[in-house]
Amino acid sequence: MGKSIHLKQLELGVCYYPEHWKEELWEDDFKRMRELKMSTIRVGEFAWALFEPEEGVFEFGLFDRALDAAHRHGLKVIMGTPTATPPAWLTHKYPEVLNAAQDGTIYRHGMRRHYNYNSPKYRELCAIITREMAEHFKDHPAIVGWQLDNEFNCETSVFHAEADHAAFRRWAQRKYATLEALNEAWGTVVWSQTYTDWEQVYLPRPTVADSPNPHLALDGKRFISDSVLEFAQIQADILREVAPQHEVTTNGMFGHLDSHALTDQLLDYFSYDSYPQFSTIFPSADEKPLLDRKWSLNLSAVRDVSPNFCIMEQQAGPGGWVNRIDMPSPRPGQMRLWTYQSVLHGADRVMYFRWRTATVGTEIYWHGLNDYHNRPNRRVREAAQVGREFAAVGAKIAGSTYQAKVAILRDYDNEWDGEFDVWHGPLTARSTNAWYKQLQYRHIPADMVYLRRESGEELERLSRYELLVYPHAAILTEQTAELLTAYVEGGGKLIFGARTGYKDERGHCRMQPFPGPAAQLCGITVEDFTLIKGTVQAPALRWTKNGESRETFAEDFNDILNVEDPAVEVMAEYAEDYYAGRPALTKRRQGRGEAWYYGAAFSEPVVDTILDLLNIQAPTADWLTVSEQVEIGIRANGQGSYVFLLNYGADAASIVLSEPRNDLLSGTKIEGAGEIPAYGVLILE
Ligand code: GLA
Repeated sequence: MGKSIHLKQLELGVCYYPEHWKEELWEDDFKRMRELKMSTIRVGEFAWALFEPEEGVFEFGLFDRALDAAHRHGLKVIMGTPTATPPAWLTHKYPEVLNAAQDGTIYRHGMRRHYNYNSPKYRELCAIITREMAEHFKDHPAIVGWQLDNEFNCETSVFHAEADHAAFRRWAQRKYATLEALNEAWGTVVWSQTYTDWEQVYLPRPTVADSPNPHLALDGKRFISDSVLEFAQIQADILREVAPQHEVTTNGMFGHLDSHALTDQLLDYFSYDSYPQFSTIFPSADEKPLLDRKWSLNLSAVRDVSPNFCIMEQQAGPGGWVNRIDMPSPRPGQMRLWTYQSVLHGADRVMYFRWRTATVGTEIYWHGLNDYHNRPNRRVREAAQVGREFAAVGAKIAGSTYQAKVAILRDYDNEWDGEFDVWHGPLTARSTNAWYKQLQYRHIPADMVYLRRESGEELERLSRYELLVYPHAAILTEQTAELLTAYVEGGGKLIFGARTGYKDERGHCRMQPFPGPAAQLCGITVEDFTLIKGTVQAPALRWTKNGESRETFAEDFNDILNVEDPAVEVMAEYAEDYYAGRPALTKRRQGRGEAWYYGAAFSEPVVDTILDLLNIQAPTADWLTVSEQVEIGIRANGQGSYVFLLNYGADAASIVLSEPRNDLLSGTKIEGAGEIPAYGVLILE
């Protein structure tokens, strides 16, 4: 189990920037926050130029006054370390702290996150400002915790400064010890890429056709993740030493960063920034997209890091930057709905971003609760409703956790390798989407589980699930295969998709039949395979067990399977092309469980058919009928079980309850046929 935030009550709060406003606004702002029943603010994370206007000169007066005022109003404070925004004096004097593009072009002052993690000078300066702040604020009665930096790896998750190349060289030396081992791991025998001196080793630099060595590219991402951890550790250590009574967290889940390791190693709990509208503004070919509801998938990944977490930034209006990102205004009710989306998935503290829209800078269109005019508006009224509701029901829900019997598995190695490798990466996005969507539409709650520790504890964690789907584990270690075999033997059902197990952890293709270490468990091998692309059509499937009449096709990639074990049942075969009649979907019993192998990427109709075959029901199937547009999820603890119904539709959704239930939010009893209003929320006890 990951580390969680521990609160007795759901808490509401908001991000506040005292440095953006005239001081005479503060008192009124804090007073109104309390009227909205907010308890916590986050401040300070970008204010380095104020805290240290010149090197070694520290000024905390503005924040002292702001914190005192917040405290007078009974607000708690999370203080950010400001290291995402090095001041102009700093980068001017020490340009080696700046990050660079792959071609070496230095990123200059003018935005944020323009630093690199490996510059010794930057680490030193960050340690100094962190210690100064910790010493100065440690006894302030308003402060409860710290946010490290802001959104590690947001805006960019690749680093090419000289300091990064040098640190990568040392990292590679620690990992491989000899150049011989490094050359072997990176397969440098191909195209005379052999390194004969450590000084020749770099993170991926510009190459012809933008195609760096793939094994090096994967290691480069592991290195970036390790760099973030090292960088963050320095700040966490200082805060633990100077202010041991305070919590330490950080916000955001971004690429090339093992957020699980980060949390286990140095945080008290994980925090996330939730902007569900990002999943609605890009065009999609999907016929029935999940839209903002798809954000629940991200929140499920966050929950795998910390079962109860903090939302450091919850969308409080339309988001926008001056030159990119432009979002429509949330409809009345949507902000509240998204707040409960976060709560359903495990958030116990939710802080809106931000109190008031900035009147200057890149984010003048990233709307806060209050607008420029600072007069009452519908977003403030909506937040007030949430505040009242949290106050009324928050003690019951805090500390309860999301309940799921199905999990989709993923892991960092495949995520990072798959960004680069077009022969498996795109399959994972496709299949994860199809599974998540069909589970959502069938009201079957699902977790996202990252496979990490190959230990007994991991087996215990997996064994809580009836069904695991590991869509395309191209990289699969022997230990993971053993772990999954033990899961199946203990009674679990496991489903793999195409391309499983053909790579080892270095990204080398194995000289053995696919699915490599999973072949025995599945009882099949892959003799031949093809991408489905261009003029090649996806072949239809013929289902052997359930007379499936829906049109289903084996999309994107086809593994043509050989049955190797008499215990294997062929559930579907390819109905077309040169491999017509060959197995496409197989099932093998082992111990008390089942291992399934599907030779293609999962499409929605295929997932549906498999779910029918597995006969997995929604946990509320006995007493609740509800339309597809509603997300259902359950949070439970020793005291009770809370069924959240979230209507993402612009129309009312019908529900039928065959047993009476109490709706916590309205305090009314519901039975028989009813409706959830557009963007409405019910929490049934
Ligand atoms: C991120 C950042 C915030 C703000 C918002 C909106 O989540 O952490 O500082 O920029 O996005 O863009």
